[in-house]
Amino acid sequence: MDYPFWDVGIGYGILMAIIAVIHVFVSHFAIGGGLYLVVAEKSARKKNDALMLQFLRKLSKFFVLVTVVFGALTGVGIWFIIGLLNPTATEALIHNFVWAWATEWTFFVIEITAALIYFYGWDRMSARGHMIVGWIYFGAAWMSLFVINGIITFMLTPGDWLATGNVWDGLFNPTFWSSLWLRTGICVMLAGLYALLVAARYRADEFKARLVRYNAIWAIVGLVVMVPTFYWYWSAIPQAVVQTALEQMPTPIASLYGSFWNAGLIAVFLILFGLLIPKKHNIVVAILLMIFGLSWFAEYEWMRESIRKPYVISAYMYGNAVTLAKADTYTKEGLLGNMAFRTGDDGADLFRRACRSCHTVNGYKALKPVFNGTDEAYIKAIVKGTHVVKGNMPPFVGTHGEAGLIAAHLYGRVDSRHLSEIYGLSGVGLGRKVYDVRCGICHELGGYNDKWESLSGLTEADYSDILDMAGDLGEEMPDFTGDDTERQALIQYLMSLNEGGTR
Ligand code: HEC
Ligand code: HEC
Repeated sequence: MDYPFWDVGIGYGILMAIIAVIHVFVSHFAIGGGLYLVVAEKSARKKNDALMLQFLRKLSKFFVLVTVVFGALTGVGIWFIIGLLNPTATEALIHNFVWAWATEWTFFVIEITAALIYFYGWDRMSARGHMIVGWIYFGAAWMSLFVINGIITFMLTPGDWLATGNVWDGLFNPTFWSSLWLRTGICVMLAGLYALLVAARYRADEFKARLVRYNAIWAIVGLVVMVPTFYWYWSAIPQAVVQTALEQMPTPIASLYGSFWNAGLIAVFLILFGLLIPKKHNIVVAILLMIFGLSWFAEYEWMRESIRKPYVISAYMYGNAVTLAKADTYTKEGLLGNMAFRTGDDGADLFRRACRSCHTVNGYKALKPVFNGTDEAYIKAIVKGTHVVKGNMPPFVGTHGEAGLIAAHLYGRVDSRHLSEIYGLSGVGLGRKVYDVRCGICHELGGYNDKWESLSGLTEADYSDILDMAGDLGEEMPDFTGDDTERQALIQYLMSLNEGGTR
């Protein structure tokens, strides 16, 4: 906890996602586009295809602008943002991979230099020299993917590195190769999609038909590579991680299924407008394809970034920058004494350290609506029991007293009226709300850690007993601290479920 906490009113996940997704969408094209340019140039020169060469020249201008300017800016943007959001994790990556990053940077410099020479070399260089520069471009760009791919995959599957601490184990981790070939497929698909964007503006003639078909084939080949490599990648992720994701993380899994649908849409559009009626290909179709491609990428990366939760580096560091190695120390000594930067408001500082990297009070993944109408004792119990709440969160490290300070901080910001008043509910309706707020975050009916089996078919007196001894049912389970009306309403609700009432 050696860095100050950057607390702005934005959800960090969203901020990171926006910059990162734009960056990967451009940088993968930078690689696939390089391959596209040299392969297409070689064949066009052999056939003396002047129209195609003219198209490639046009594409290479767009390419240089997009990749060098936009790719480099967003790449620096990622460094900026990860340094602000999670300096401790960034530091861990730099310590491990400093030479890998130096290597990547070197390839990147070669890559942009070659891109510029390639673009300015169309009239100034021999055909052979121009092609060589193009291959250097593609080789350097792919090698930078090779290296960075090692670091990205490391965060989800550090593999043997956890035991050995060896940088090679970290780099060539269990998902390294599958991810590399999956991403290579993505590069090729994107090359096709971007080339289709440039081709869309052409007049509907025979050349356009030929060009569109050619570009569509690139994109389809990329897609075809992506299918088996994705399954390879997915099966290389440890089974426990996949299982937890499937059971407890509906959003990333929905995102994954969304990416399958998107890939299907891309395929349909490519076959229709790319292969069957290529002359009809137009700017609207091209932009739709770009949107599908971007959405596909966003969904895939969102899933990949989310399923390693609660970690930022699997089994090594939690999302809130607490390393497993330090967890015991913090639990014993407390967090506050181990923070180099404090503002004087201990409750706020602790909230930032323990929760704020994933939640806000009022905005993204807001906690206020979850705790409205509850009480300080309940909030404290939840702070201490985050690891049993749905959502696959890191455990709270820190002392009993510190959990209390976070609870007081949060309680001061929520609506402290009774649930009946806040939501204008009574009877069974109120009871359902009480269940959602005071039980449902740990026991979803029909879902996460469902307790209906223990709760069904009981009498009113039994329910009352259960609420009396709630705090003893599980180590992290809170006492029931709702008021009398809420208690009666909850019991009424549970009774109504026994009689087949709606959940
Ligand atoms: C590593 C990220 C992370 C950290 C750190 C974290 N949470 Fe969470 N939390 C989540 C995610 C993700 C969910 C799932 C809910 C969702 O998807 O909106 C969640 C869910 C919850 C819920 C249930 C909300 C609901 O709507 O069901 C509560 C309550 C909660 N967190 C409280 C906390 C508190 C208090 C802390 C700090 C002590 C904390 N969390 C720290 C990521 C985190
Ligand atoms: C912070 C999370 C949390 C909340 C909130 C919570 N519980 Fe629990 N509950 C647990 C844990 C942990 C256990 C014991 C371990 C387990 O079975 O998962 C448990 C156990 C139980 C059991 C015992 C089940 C058995 O088979 O022995 C019942 C019944 C139960 N809870 C009902 C409730 C009800 C009703 C509420 C709301 C008033 C509630 N819980 C609120 C975490 C919670």
